[in-house]
Amino acid sequence: MRILSAAVASLALTVGAQVATAAPVELKFSHVVAENTPKGQMAIKFRDLVAERMADDVVVKVFPNSQLFGDNKVLEAMLLGDVQMAAPSLSKFQKYTTSLQLFDLPFLFKDMEAVERFQQSDAGQKLLGSLESKGLVGLGYLHNGMKQLSASEALRTPADASGKKFRIMTSDVLQAQFEAVEAVPLKKPFSEVFTLLQTKAIDGQENTWSNIYSKKFFEVQPYITESNHGVLDYLVVTSAEFWKGLDDDVRTELKKALDEAIAHGNKIAAEKADADKQAIIDSGRSEVISLTDAERQQWVEAMKPVWKQFEGEIGADLIDAAAASNN
Ligand code: LMR
Repeated sequence: MRILSAAVASLALTVGAQVATAAPVELKFSHVVAENTPKGQMAIKFRDLVAERMADDVVVKVFPNSQLFGDNKVLEAMLLGDVQMAAPSLSKFQKYTTSLQLFDLPFLFKDMEAVERFQQSDAGQKLLGSLESKGLVGLGYLHNGMKQLSASEALRTPADASGKKFRIMTSDVLQAQFEAVEAVPLKKPFSEVFTLLQTKAIDGQENTWSNIYSKKFFEVQPYITESNHGVLDYLVVTSAEFWKGLDDDVRTELKKALDEAIAHGNKIAAEKADADKQAIIDSGRSEVISLTDAERQQWVEAMKPVWKQFEGEIGADLIDAAAASNN
């Protein structure tokens, strides 16, 4: 009898184990921005498409607003298997590759169309693989938009930024960019920016219209200079271990859903660049400053030497290829 019940128990365990392996794979998607942003909407779209098409195989759980991991931890956590997908800004990969620093060079791209052309070019697509040796897989670019400068005082020329403290993402190129105008850059996580601005621990920051709007930076920054001096885009990443561990057909379907979600996010990015700027103007909380051509040229001349400073690390050919996308 005892032998029989042991056999039944072992059979139950085997069946249980089979059920367990058939459970859908959990894919945690962690990001730092609000849900009403290009990245927030892209992640939701991805989750919903996967739920619609492949609920038996994969379930996507989205964690916005640095709820699960902040900027500085998410890639480490991904390599440990604690999170499976994220889309950090291209400025946040410096610890893993120097090539992506390209995107931080000031005044490299004249607009988002140029950014898109470069990302889709052979050189741009090759960069998706730049994290391979570190165990990370670049699955695609996602747009946010061009960056603007917000501050506690009006910034019209580089001299206005001199001596002021600006929060930057963890990028040496961005550090050099602010040092080039004699400002004081401070590398801080996105989750701390609002409080740093509100308490006046810093004077300003650079970001896109949708981040300035959704995180309410405009409520604590009386001036925003429409400088369009750089781009803030994302790389959607996963770990090689997770990605290669999926069944081939599951991986293919997942990538298809992701590509569609990215297209959706890109559409929202384009819409929000205008709509969120307008919402900020309408709020009356922050004055949006347009630069004259001569004023803008001063910023270009002050910041452009940064290109030479990083040419060795990034590669002159890559910089030329990116600059050529403006034509
Ligand atoms: C920032 O840190 O300012 C941005 O990278 C946040 C984001 O993910 O858009």
